[in-house]
Amino acid sequence: MANSGPVQVIAVTGGKGGVGKSNVSINLSIALAEMGRRVVLLDADLGLANIDVLLGITSKRNISDVINGDCSLRDVLVEGPHGIKIVPASSGTQKMVSLNPLEHAGLINAFSELSQDLDVLIVDTAAGISDGVVSFLRAAQEIIVVVCDEPTSITDSYALIKLLNRDYDMYRFRVLANMVKSQEEGRHLFSKLTNVTERFLDVALQYVGCIPYDEAVKKAVQRQRAVLDAYPRAKASLAYKTLAQKADSWPLPSTPRGHLEFFVERLVHA
Ligand SMILES: Nc1ncnc2c1ncn2[C@@H]1O[C@H](COP(=O)(O)OP(=O)(O)OP(=O)(O)O)[C@@H](O)[C@H]1O
Ligand SMILES: [Mg+2]
Repeated sequence: MANSGPVQVIAVTGGKGGVGKSNVSINLSIALAEMGRRVVLLDADLGLANIDVLLGITSKRNISDVINGDCSLRDVLVEGPHGIKIVPASSGTQKMVSLNPLEHAGLINAFSELSQDLDVLIVDTAAGISDGVVSFLRAAQEIIVVVCDEPTSITDSYALIKLLNRDYDMYRFRVLANMVKSQEEGRHLFSKLTNVTERFLDVALQYVGCIPYDEAVKKAVQRQRAVLDAYPRAKASLAYKTLAQKADSWPLPSTPRGHLEFFVERLVHA
């Protein structure tokens, strides 16, 4: 991939907590790295760090040091499995949960200093629809909404999509079904969501497939490893790889959209 081309920015979200966002973010990052992409994974669950715990990584610095002006973003990068670079969040820091819009903008703009060194940025968002989540989602080009077979997962992702559509004119979302027992269940979940969005909103949802329910994911979480790393032949691992292949073929952005977004300067120069 060209060094000066646009960076692909994919945010992983879902409204509801515990649907598998962090595992999708981690394994998608690793699968893309295995395909030769240079990947940075941002733990955007700023106040309740997830990624470092899930991967058994300890870091001296985290994103709160960048916000406080104590170091640059480059200084907080830690190496994860298969050469992915991780931007760890801080845990239990109230201030990080309620950053003001200026601090969010500063953080998003800070990524520009890394733009020569990466092809893909994966953003693992916190649960919910806080201002922080919304600003990261608006700043990304691709949004993967993770859903699972729980009534609140569908209603929460609908609420998230509705908010982004009504208040911020966003209309394009990719949907990934997680923890499904079959391919049909995944399709069925997607149609549950489109049934409501088509009635009430003007949005375009694209189904990107499903990740099976797989005990190997749980085992890997227990061992603080990524499933793709610990059990590369597990069903879920294969599904994460398929997801990465699809993501790699998504068109890259070419023009700025006129609001705060990651790596905007690469678009202006492209
Ligand atoms: N495909 C899967 N098969 C089996 N279990 C899964 C799968 N995906 C996720 N899980 C289980 O769900 C748990 C929560 O996953 P994860 O931490 O990725 O969710 P999350 O959406 O990031 O949660 P939070 O909202 O708290 O950040 C995992 O610890 C794991 O046990
Ligand atoms: Mg998480």
